[in-house]
Amino acid sequence: MSNSKKACDFTIFGVLGDLSRRKLIPSLYQLEKAGLLDADTRIIGVARHELSQEDFVAKMRESLEKFSKKEIDQKVVERLLLRLHYILINLDVPDEYNRLAEVVDQDKRVLVNYFSVAPFLFDDICVGLDHAGIVTAETRAVLEKPIGSDLASSQEINDTVANVFTESQVYRIDHYLGKETVMNLLALRFANSIFTTNWDHNTIDHVQITVAEEIGIEGRFGYFDKSGQTRDMLQNHLMQILTLVAMEPPVDMDGESIRNEKLKVLKALRPITIDTVDEKTVRGQYSAGYMKGQAVPGYLEEEGGNPHSTTESFVALRVDIDNWRWADVPFYLRTGKRLTTKRSEVVIYFKHLPHNIFKSSYKKIPRNKLVIRLQPNEGVEIEMMNKVPGIGKGIKLQKTLLDLSFSDAFHGEHVANAYERLILEAMMGNQSLFIRRDEVERSWEWIDSIQNAWKQSNEPPKKYPAGSWGPVASVALLARDGREWEE
Ligand code: BG6
Repeated sequence: MSNSKKACDFTIFGVLGDLSRRKLIPSLYQLEKAGLLDADTRIIGVARHELSQEDFVAKMRESLEKFSKKEIDQKVVERLLLRLHYILINLDVPDEYNRLAEVVDQDKRVLVNYFSVAPFLFDDICVGLDHAGIVTAETRAVLEKPIGSDLASSQEINDTVANVFTESQVYRIDHYLGKETVMNLLALRFANSIFTTNWDHNTIDHVQITVAEEIGIEGRFGYFDKSGQTRDMLQNHLMQILTLVAMEPPVDMDGESIRNEKLKVLKALRPITIDTVDEKTVRGQYSAGYMKGQAVPGYLEEEGGNPHSTTESFVALRVDIDNWRWADVPFYLRTGKRLTTKRSEVVIYFKHLPHNIFKSSYKKIPRNKLVIRLQPNEGVEIEMMNKVPGIGKGIKLQKTLLDLSFSDAFHGEHVANAYERLILEAMMGNQSLFIRRDEVERSWEWIDSIQNAWKQSNEPPKKYPAGSWGPVASVALLARDGREWEE
């Protein structure tokens, strides 16, 4: 819901937590530096520790120095620190929210509450804010993932929040939607007429979406072992990318228009059930291996780990979208921890030519490929055939690359990180980069069916050495369809 007030009381619940210190505070610094924070905007940190205003400011300065990627400008830091206020609230004590009520000023500023805490605390925050009488029609709630671990738990969280906030006040974060290159998928598709006609089953053979990570569990075994890569990455980040690649053109850039189209894709996903789960999915778990020459432990040997865990750190699957545009065009998705390299990309494989006029020298001409590099080395490349210059030897073709690197094309532009963009959009009241309730619930419903099928089939995850591209079965998943992963 947008409104005329530009200034915010941007309130971070869990301000001393990891996300806040690593991402939110450094992102607010960047917004300050870019002059994007309104002069009257304040940043209110909430936590349950006894801290003086001075100690709080010192801690935030320390976070900035530790977690900012580039050298920081002390003048900007000073400006940002002047906006900070600290309030002690025990989240489960409603009366303590009155301290926040005494500070916020809703005649002048919009109250934007960032729930940077575990979801089981969302209820307490909603109750507390309501109790203090500071939820007006303009107040916003920004929710961090995970929104549940299945359909039932996500409904429960959403119901809790809905007791106090209407859907137009709720901003569910998927940080991938804040990434520059993920947003660029919309520009690529809907600002280039060459793709308006070449983006369906007539020209596209299949699509691959890879989100490969080098990191392992990073001391998060307790959280990760309960969720696995499917809940941690597939249900949100990969499915959001999938919807942006597959959706119909929205009528405009309005939040509802975009989210309506994304939802239609989610609704058209063919369910994966016990009958198809073996043929369409692969679960993997890394064993000890080498990352860039360094020996690393396997998943079961990770610190704080459970040596009998059957949680997956890798998942690959074939997704079919049952609609007109994508009939018989499989989408292959894979994501895993401890893979060869960090790489997120979408690869569109176009169909083979209907007829080959170069048969004498080329039995089969390789198909065109569009690679959208989401991270790192952000850019777009198209693999196409060209004639090798020369005379007298007939026509020799060669695969060549049209390579657009964003850092070269937009040299000097500051590439905002995902949280900078999302914080700013939440402050401005633009919901298009946030996930609507029906989207999150529909994607859980689809994931639940896979999780249930895995449970029924009771197959342990397939092992893969750390530093590889995942289990061999993931290669077989595509090989069965006569295809192979982009590597
Ligand atoms: C988070 C997951 O949502 O995304 C992490 O919880 C994962 O497990 C991270 O490592 C990946 O994000 P990025 O931006 O580094 O690709």
